[in-house]
Amino acid sequence: MADNNRANFGSKLGVVAAAAGSAVGLGNIWRFPYELGQSGGGAFLLIYIVCIVLLGLPIMTSEFLIGRMSQSNAVGAFRKLGPKGSKWWLVGVMGVLSAFFIMGFYVVVSGWTLEYIVQAVTNSFANKDTETLTRAFTDFSTGTWRPIIWMTLFLVITCVIIVGGVKNGIEKSAKFMMPLLLIIIVALGVRAVTLPGGAEGLRFLFKPDFSKIDSSVVLNAMGQAFFSLSLGMGCMITYGSYINKKNHLAHTVLEVTFVDTIIAVLASIAIFPAVFSFGINPEQGPTLVFITLPNIFAHMPGGLIWSLLFFILLSIAALTSTISLLEVIVAFFTEEFKMSRAKAAIIASAGIWVLGVCASLSMGVWSDVHIFGFTIFDFLDNITSKIMMPLGGLLIALFAGWVMKKDQMLGELSNNGKYKTAYFRAYYFIVRFVAPVAILMIFLNQLGVFRWLRL
Ligand code: PFF
Repeated sequence: MADNNRANFGSKLGVVAAAAGSAVGLGNIWRFPYELGQSGGGAFLLIYIVCIVLLGLPIMTSEFLIGRMSQSNAVGAFRKLGPKGSKWWLVGVMGVLSAFFIMGFYVVVSGWTLEYIVQAVTNSFANKDTETLTRAFTDFSTGTWRPIIWMTLFLVITCVIIVGGVKNGIEKSAKFMMPLLLIIIVALGVRAVTLPGGAEGLRFLFKPDFSKIDSSVVLNAMGQAFFSLSLGMGCMITYGSYINKKNHLAHTVLEVTFVDTIIAVLASIAIFPAVFSFGINPEQGPTLVFITLPNIFAHMPGGLIWSLLFFILLSIAALTSTISLLEVIVAFFTEEFKMSRAKAAIIASAGIWVLGVCASLSMGVWSDVHIFGFTIFDFLDNITSKIMMPLGGLLIALFAGWVMKKDQMLGELSNNGKYKTAYFRAYYFIVRFVAPVAILMIFLNQLGVFRWLRL
């Protein structure tokens, strides 16, 4: 495809909606609260926000830059911008692989959201106590067929939208649901905060207990930051390549990051008061949201409508993220192997389906199959967010800081001098030094290297 014929996001709002659509997803509403619950609450939130500012903002800026300058998919981008014959394109390959792995477990949880739409429609949460709701979720998610059927349906929808293309498929679907999602999460938060005993949940969320911080809390917070902002794996490179040359990249970065962080915090404000009010264990893990929220709905006037709206929006939020994940793989296939979009999407989806079936079964009948001590589902989740994405982010920062040409980056960020770039020095310093060193230290710390060296 010639560069100037390349697909583009249409409007300014479309860019933000699509990139925010990628960022806001299950990561904010499902993953963030349970990671926070497992990592001790407020302390996690604090470190998370530091990671967002220090790593998230500069790495998203770098990814958009790499994408828009190269007008290429994740692999092609490094080949175009890197020195001839260098191996930087392997960073892109790792990104495509990450997209594939993330999809493997992400579509499973996305499928759960569809089941819960049906549960909401049939008013299944009404008048049930915590124990019954917990049992219902466990029975469903450890079952064999139902989760796989929902997962398959979800994947087919994603695939159809991707075949529809960038402007019609991706942009349109993202634009209308983001504001709606925000409104409903605020409403849920208001209900949760006013539950009896809810204040304890807020204390858990906002009062950092520093004794809870250890190396794995820091790694989890960093991994969550990458996961939530869709960074370190070429997703924002791919979307960056569709961003119009007139767009103000730095503003887009700020807007997307702000929306993403607000939604994660709001989701936690809806969840933790209810967790404490209903006596749910905050360290539940991946089941947390699916048990907590139905509890709130069961205790809300008009619970049926609220729950229906919520699960519809959650599945749409998941959809705009699965779209972006599949797009990483499809852009790579179409541009590097000259495949049609339809063929690329179908091949990629078939592979994801196989992985998704394995991940889904690992919740139930295959729960004793372990890879490095993890179930298949947990393995895919952990290897991507805690290793591949931060490693990808580290390499992307090094690429932007040491390989790309500084004046070209400045030109791209300022749209050839049109916009101010007062932040550039700070940005450049972070990608050259701070981000790589910080990520490396967090890795080494987790591996116990500092303890071993008695530092
Ligand atoms: N950011 C998404 C979420 O928070 O749910 C997950 C995700 C989407 C990760 C796209 C990576 C990606 F490329």
